[in-house]
Amino acid sequence: MHPTPLTEATRRLLYGPAAFRREDEGDDRLFYATDRLVSHLDELARATVARLIAALVVEEHPAILDLMASWDTHLPASLQPERLVGLGLNRNELERNTRLTERVLHDLNRDPRLPLPAASFDVVLDIVAVDYLTRPFEVFAEVARVLRPGGLHLVVFSNRCFPEKVVKIWHESSDQERILIVEDYFQATDLYTESSLWISQGKPRPASDKYGGPGLPSDPVYAVWAERKGRPASLAVRRPPPVVDRPPWDEDEVARRKAEVGRTLRCPYCGEKLSKWAVPQTPFTEYDVEFLWVCFNDRCPFLVRGWDTMNRQGNRGYSYRMMYHPGKGYCGSLPVPTLRALRESIIEE
Ligand SMILES: C[S@@+](CC[C@H](N)C(=O)[O-])C[C@H]1O[C@@H](n2cnc3c(N)ncnc32)[C@H](O)[C@@H]1O
Repeated sequence: MHPTPLTEATRRLLYGPAAFRREDEGDDRLFYATDRLVSHLDELARATVARLIAALVVEEHPAILDLMASWDTHLPASLQPERLVGLGLNRNELERNTRLTERVLHDLNRDPRLPLPAASFDVVLDIVAVDYLTRPFEVFAEVARVLRPGGLHLVVFSNRCFPEKVVKIWHESSDQERILIVEDYFQATDLYTESSLWISQGKPRPASDKYGGPGLPSDPVYAVWAERKGRPASLAVRRPPPVVDRPPWDEDEVARRKAEVGRTLRCPYCGEKLSKWAVPQTPFTEYDVEFLWVCFNDRCPFLVRGWDTMNRQGNRGYSYRMMYHPGKGYCGSLPVPTLRALRESIIEE
């Protein structure tokens, strides 16, 4: 599914100067002068970003620009760049990033031009920072300029931030709308191929995480990327979409458990006890029973994998919970937009 290009008038309306105001309009160089040697994503999300980079960066020894860089570029150990330039605002953070071969201090909001020669990189990464750009259209065009034809521009974002420095349009948008915004940044110049999207969300947060605990999922990872147009025929590399995890369950075992759900009232995927769930009585209700049995285990692999499956089917932002229909005796799924959804109708845990 690809977005329709915006007309110039719509773009002006959506992305006028007010869209890029921030609560703190002070000098970014001062704001970022404080060292922040912290992780901006939980461990699982960081591993996901490394896995994504490993899948998309197919060049053997690429020249990489890490835009809006800090102390961690998230490169997998297997990737050995010929050159890794980090461009950011905090000298100490860049010094701590031991994989960098060059460090550039540059404020993209003061001057969106990159102090780097044209066609000098195979890959440009912008990890969890695109929401701070006040002149994103100019920066995206600049990234295209410094990329070699066929080069990769990968933008990754999540849902944590320094709120006072985030631009207004981002603040006021949902995660799904933010995907569209980044797609617009790419589309606004004619210099990129059509962008691709990959999402990882709804995974259980690692128990060791500082915010690990019941209910809070791992930080979502949204990735939007495109190539600089003009890929030469001699460039053999193709960027495969990241590998989708195989189902972590044994199909035969699940089929056997499904045949017995009416008796066990346990989820065939995770083994948890199912909850009795009142079917909302609306004119749109499609079930001819008063209640269903539903798995409300937030760590159930059927649910965890469902975010990815639904996204690939074009249902961005949804997963599903396993349900058992007691009248007809079959297992199915109930779509959910969040982990909290549907819980209000649980009548028996
Ligand atoms: C949330 S951190 C992400 C850092 C790093 N990319 C990572 O994945 O850990 C946001 C980064 O954006 C950079 N940044 C923010 N505003 C910037 C600007 N105006 N120009 C250049 N870099 C900026 C800051 O230096 C900061 O390190």
